Amino acid sequence: MKFKLTGNAEIDQQHAVLDALIDRLELVCERLADEPKPSCQACNAGRRRNCNGSLSRLNDEILSFLVGHVTYEERLMELLPDIVRCQVHIRGHKEAHAEISDRLREVAAHLGREAPWLLGMQLHRIAKDWMGSHASLYDVELAQQIEGIGPAEIEFDSELVAILDELVFHNRPTRTTPLVRSNARRAELQRRLATLTAKQREVCRLAVSGMANKEIAKQLGITINTIKTHRAEIFRKMDVSSLLDLIRAMDIAEPDEL
Ligand SMILES: [Fe+2]
Ligand SMILES: [Fe+2]
Repeated sequence: MKFKLTGNAEIDQQHAVLDALIDRLELVCERLADEPKPSCQACNAGRRRNCNGSLSRLNDEILSFLVGHVTYEERLMELLPDIVRCQVHIRGHKEAHAEISDRLREVAAHLGREAPWLLGMQLHRIAKDWMGSHASLYDVELAQQIEGIGPAEIEFDSELVAILDELVFHNRPTRTTPLVRSNARRAELQRRLATLTAKQREVCRLAVSGMANKEIAKQLGITINTIKTHRAEIFRKMDVSSLLDLIRAMDIAEPDEL
């Protein structure tokens, strides 16, 4: 095992999955593990599309792993007592998780626009930092604090198991029913929805209700270009590429609202 163990068996198992993703990342670009060179053979014209495709798949896998893993760790945080030291830890730890996910999305936004070896390096650095400084700074402390309060392992509810099955452990035979799986999908969309700003939520609601950009701009008293910017952000955050997909996603996330 190349990474530092936290002492929490479940977190360590999840980290092993990320470690395997890092190994796959190193295979995409032959120069990734040591000194990268712009002339990397794997990124030559003929293979560039392959490199981009592999990177984008890995980036997606790493992002969804993050959602599952973060859900697990943040549920553990809920078990911590309401004392200053723990609250300080929780705040810092959650901010660090949000920062990792922002950095990953930033890489995703440049895919296809920059040389794959460059983005591969960035992705590699993010994942390595995550297993290195993030894990030793935050995860080790979380594992220690959890031990200090008693239960070493979180009580697994079926929703959490479904999230881990779907986003973290792809090879583990699923232990959940389709109903629980659809609950997990809902939980994921609700988490995405929670990242929208108040204004983006308003625009999202109006767009889903069938209003055109022009009408939304008029109703909210902002320019049509601002609406377009909001829409692009909403699509990115909700991970959809069309209004129809957004409507479907909102239907799952907020069934009672529609
Ligand atoms: Fe972690
Ligand atoms: Fe963490």
